[in-house]
Amino acid sequence: MHKKPLNNKPLMEIGGLAKHYRSDQPNVFQNINFNIARNEFICVIGHSGCGKSTILNILAGLESASEGAVIMDGREISGPGLDRGVVFQGHALLPWLTVRENIAFAIRSRYPDMGKTEIEQRVQHYIDLVGLSHALDKKPSELSGGMKQRVGIARAFSVEPKMLLMDEPFGALDALTRGVIQDELLKIVQETQQTVYMITHDIDEAILLADRIFLMSNGPEACIAEIVVNTLPKPRSRENMHHDPRFYAMRNHLLDFLVHRSKEMQAQGMRPAQPLLVYPGAEPEELAIAVTATESV
Ligand SMILES: Nc1ncnc2c1ncn2[C@@H]1O[C@H](COP(=O)(O)OP(=O)(O)OP(=O)(O)O)[C@@H](O)[C@H]1O
Ligand SMILES: [Mg+2]
Repeated sequence: MHKKPLNNKPLMEIGGLAKHYRSDQPNVFQNINFNIARNEFICVIGHSGCGKSTILNILAGLESASEGAVIMDGREISGPGLDRGVVFQGHALLPWLTVRENIAFAIRSRYPDMGKTEIEQRVQHYIDLVGLSHALDKKPSELSGGMKQRVGIARAFSVEPKMLLMDEPFGALDALTRGVIQDELLKIVQETQQTVYMITHDIDEAILLADRIFLMSNGPEACIAEIVVNTLPKPRSRENMHHDPRFYAMRNHLLDFLVHRSKEMQAQGMRPAQPLLVYPGAEPEELAIAVTATESV
């Protein structure tokens, strides 16, 4: 599989993003500014209706912004493209194709000149990664919800997008399946150094997966209120991350935002153009290193 070149410039730069559906109504969100570094895993958390999916759809090129721009690799995004893979909450597989054919179809769309053998190898590689080689010749209707979601993830990875955009990909799954898929996603992201932008309602999921967590205030006129840098060291695992006191500092900080600060900010009309950068539970010396490391992001 191809290696990505070393490049310190952010993969994505988002500036002054705002959205309204009617000009006589307030913006859904406004003043959204952030960068995403290569190989970074971003999670977005915020109450229902604050505009998370709308922002993700704008990054995917599926929706247009009312103001602002999204630059990826130095070029403004003007529509959907295979350099961005999207995983929706529902799996969105083609029901008349088998697992193998669903993934091969995506690969052929991205690489029309690729030979049959290479496509087959690639299908096998990505389906192995999500642990579903035994289901290659099954149709989506023969799979469980979790399996379908894993095929959706394998398909998104198989086109080797520069950026993977995921809108609550595990929202409909039971806790057990969700845990298994989170572990698989962690493994794949480590292996492929994939850049990910993912919406979740699950705080523990964000702490397990994300390098940085964007916290959105309530809408209308929502904004990114805080960017929480994950202070838990990598590699993280579901089994042992709760033994680290920083886990509780992170968890309390995120919960407190959702329960109190997101509403207070909106009530007080606080809409910072640059979100507050926070490092819950970090020791002062860790903070000094962390601040230096994230200055370029
Ligand atoms: N086509 C539309 N016309 C008018 N308003 C819309 C339209 N689509 C979305 N909205 C409004 O935009 C706001 C943001 O919607 P969005 O789906 O991005 O929220 P969200 O943060 O993803 O919520 P959830 O967590 O429930 O998925 C909502 O208040 C919604 O009512
Ligand atoms: Mg949504």
